This record gives sequence, C-alpha cells and structure tokens, in this order.
Amino acid sequence: MGNDAIRITDARTDAQYELPLFKGAVRAMELRKIKTGPDDFGMMTYDPAFLNTASCQSAITYIDGDRGILRYRGYPIEQLAQHCTFLEVAYLLLKGELPSAPELKEWVGAVTYHTMIHETTKKFLEGFRYDAHPVAMFVSTVAALATVYPDSRNVLDGDVRALQILRLIGKVPTIAAYCYRHSLGYPYVYPDNELAYTENFMNMLWRMMERRYQVNPVLARALDVLFILHADHEQNCSANVMRAVGSSQADPFLATAASAAALSGPLHGGANEEVLKMLDEIGSKQNIPAYIEKVKAGQFKLMGFGHRVYKNFDPRASIIKWTAEQVFEVVGRNPKLDIALELERIALEDEYFVKRKLYPNVDFYSGIIYQAMGFKPEMFTVLFAIPRTVGWLAQWQEMLTDPEQKIARPRQIYVGHEARDVVPMSKRTSGALLPSD
Ligand code: CMC
Repeated sequence: MGNDAIRITDARTDAQYELPLFKGAVRAMELRKIKTGPDDFGMMTYDPAFLNTASCQSAITYIDGDRGILRYRGYPIEQLAQHCTFLEVAYLLLKGELPSAPELKEWVGAVTYHTMIHETTKKFLEGFRYDAHPVAMFVSTVAALATVYPDSRNVLDGDVRALQILRLIGKVPTIAAYCYRHSLGYPYVYPDNELAYTENFMNMLWRMMERRYQVNPVLARALDVLFILHADHEQNCSANVMRAVGSSQADPFLATAASAAALSGPLHGGANEEVLKMLDEIGSKQNIPAYIEKVKAGQFKLMGFGHRVYKNFDPRASIIKWTAEQVFEVVGRNPKLDIALELERIALEDEYFVKRKLYPNVDFYSGIIYQAMGFKPEMFTVLFAIPRTVGWLAQWQEMLTDPEQKIARPRQIYVGHEARDVVPMSKRTSGALLPSD
C-alpha cells in the first residue's frame, strides 16, 4: 500500500479494504465499498453541520484556522487590505488574478454601468413597512431582481453568468442604500457613476440637500477595507447555501438572496448586530465579570466570539481594530470600544474561553466601526452582504464550472417509524407532539 491510500478492517466482517486517497481525503463514495453483504447499501459518513466534510475543491480562498491565515487566491488578506481596492479584490476573487491597470479600468466601468435599479424594483421596495428590518428588505429585493432579468436563468451560459455577476455587484450597494433610506423615511438618492464604488454607496446613504455630498476619504477607505475583509470566507454557511441552491441551476439572484438569508442569522453575519445589543446590555465595564459568568453558565453566547475554523485568532479582527483607529480619528471614539476591549481582555484570560479556543471574530469590532460611522445596528448585516455577494458569486461560478459537481443532495440516517397503516380518525388517540411543541 502506498501512502496515498488507507487500509480499513471492518470489525463486523474482518474484511479488509484499501481505499485510495484523493488530495489527502477519502472520497465518501469509496466507503460504499464497505459492506456486510451484497444487500448492504454500503458505509456512509454521518456529519451533521459538516464538521469534517469537504464538499468541493476550491481555488478561491485559503484559511489556516490554527495559524490565523486568510488568503484570497494566494494573496494574504493583510496585503490586499493594505494595497488594493475592493473592486480590485472582487476581480481577483472572480477571475483568479489581480487586474492590470487597463483591466481594472474596464472592470470598474462595467460594474459601474450596472448600479441603477429598475424603477419598478424601487417601487417594490417602497411597499415595505417603515420599520421593516433592512436585511429582510435586502433579501427580498435581491430576489425580486430575478423578475427583472429573466435571461439570468440560463446559468450554463458563461456570458449570461458574467452579465449577472456585474449586475449583482453593481446593484447590491444601491439596494442596500435604498433599504437604509426607506427605514429612515428619506427619499432615495440615485447612483452617481462619477464616484468610486464605496464613495457612491456613501453618497446614496447620506446625501441630503447639498449639491455634492463630500465623502470623507478616510471613512471611504475604511469602508473599502471592511468590504475587502468580508468579501469571501470559503465554505461558510452562506457560501454553502449559494452552492447548494445554485447546484439546482437556480437563478443567481434567487441564489444570492438565499445566501443573504443564511448570512442574516445571529450565528453568522447577524452576529455584528448582536454584538452591539450585547455591549448595550452590558452597559459599563464593571458589569463585564457578571456577564462573563452568565456566558460560562451557558445562559447565552458571547457574540462576536468563536469560529468554526479559526482556533487562534481571526486575522480579519486584527485588521478591523487598526481600521477602527482610523475611523475614530475622524468621527470620535465610540464609547462602546472601551467595553469591547475590556470584554476581550477578560475573556482571553479566562479558562473557559482559552480552553475552547474562543477569540474575537470579524463581527466583534465591525459593528463598533459601523456605528461610529453613523449606521444603525440593523444595517450591519446588509453591510456584510454587499461585499460577500462577490464571494458568493465566485463560489457559484466555480461550482457551476466544476465537472464533478451535481445537484447537492445529502443522505440521511432515517430514525423514524417503520412502515405502519393509517388508523381511521375515530380510532386515533391525541396527536404526537413534534420536538418543538
Ligand atoms: N460564547 C460562549 N461559548 C461559546 C461561544 C461563544 N461565542 N462559541 C462557542 N462556544 C462554546 C460552545 O458552547 C461549546 O462549548 P462546549 O464544548 O462546552 O459545549 C464550544 O465553545 C464549541 O463551540 P461550538 O458551538 O461547537 O462551535 P461551532 O464551530 O459550532 O460554532 C460559532 C461556531 C461561530 C457559530 C460559535 O462560536 C458562535 O455561536 N459564536 C457566536 C456568534 C458569532 O460571533 N458568530 C460570528 C461568526 S464569524 C463571522 C461569520 O460567520 O459570519
């Protein structure tokens, strides 16, 4: 046996199997050779929540969770955040290489061409209640784009895909800004294609009666850096949704909306909003020890802490702390920062968090910056969804062009009743309770 295979002895039958390895992993289908007899279905793996299952091969993002490394297409996130713009990074994620100057000019022009949304989509947005949560408005409006672009359904055509990618990257800031203005009751500001991506977004968010809204360059750069940090994160929950929904060859607007819905949960991108609620609840530094005790007692989680993959530190959190300093120099220090820093200090010295390798993640500090910039917490996850749309699209494109991929369809271990007969209504006793009842 070479070192590119494993040998397994089945304790039930004493049979021996030699299973080839593929890039260091066992293909789950190889396990099906392990049978107790000809009628046996064959061995499956059981992995709820995908703790140890690679669902694809990907060349987009690399994470080494133990060493706190994050790279897009091989480039360290720290270098990309320092030297590139968000649209440059978007090009890199989608096309595999950083653009040359003419390529970038063409790419920025193509994305910018698609910033407008159809007036009917604007009216659709107006139908939401004044207090609708922006993330729900965002999800629904992105999905509604599928009604405007029926050509997008032809997902196997590379040119059609490329057009929808431009449309989505161009339109998500417009939709996000309109959701924001709607929640404040302000009129919408149309995109200004003379402005850069982040500046245009800020203009749509905050311009009032002035002839020209003056975007603060430090804040625009900070938002651009935050967009770079959030652009992709390999097979996270929402990327997995993008691949799963996309694997049925669903329209990309609907698949992106599904991914944004996955992102909105408090354990994923919704954590940034929860962090702010938590800091409000804690209120002051002296309340932190008591709060930590409640976390350790299992009453609730420390939001913005912990990660499935990072078990040392989240490199994005380090860059965010640096970005926060730049923002605070312009807008003043968010008083919540002191509570967050103290919370981090106390948690990182506590045996509970050390033992479980729980560190601040990207969401711990991002909300504090967003709030200092003037965003309401309800907008935070929408701010996450704008750049992550690029990552979702890169994952979607990679999935559709991978000849090994098929419709995503996991197996299950059935634990319900054996076959039984329907009892007439008159003979039934009270109904069974579902686990949630
Ligand atoms: N506070 C307190 N305890 C925690 C936390 C936390 N934030 N996170 C994990 N634990 C505990 C957990 O209770 C478990 O303890 P025990 O072994 O005693 O049962 C142990 O640590 C392992 O946790 P897990 O739930 O098995 O870890 P997971 O990989 O399934 O979950 C996570 C990862 C991010 C969902 C989780 O850490 C969490 O809920 N964190 C808070 C929410 C959050 O900040 N989410 C943002 C994640 S990063 C950005 C993104 O994904 O969008």
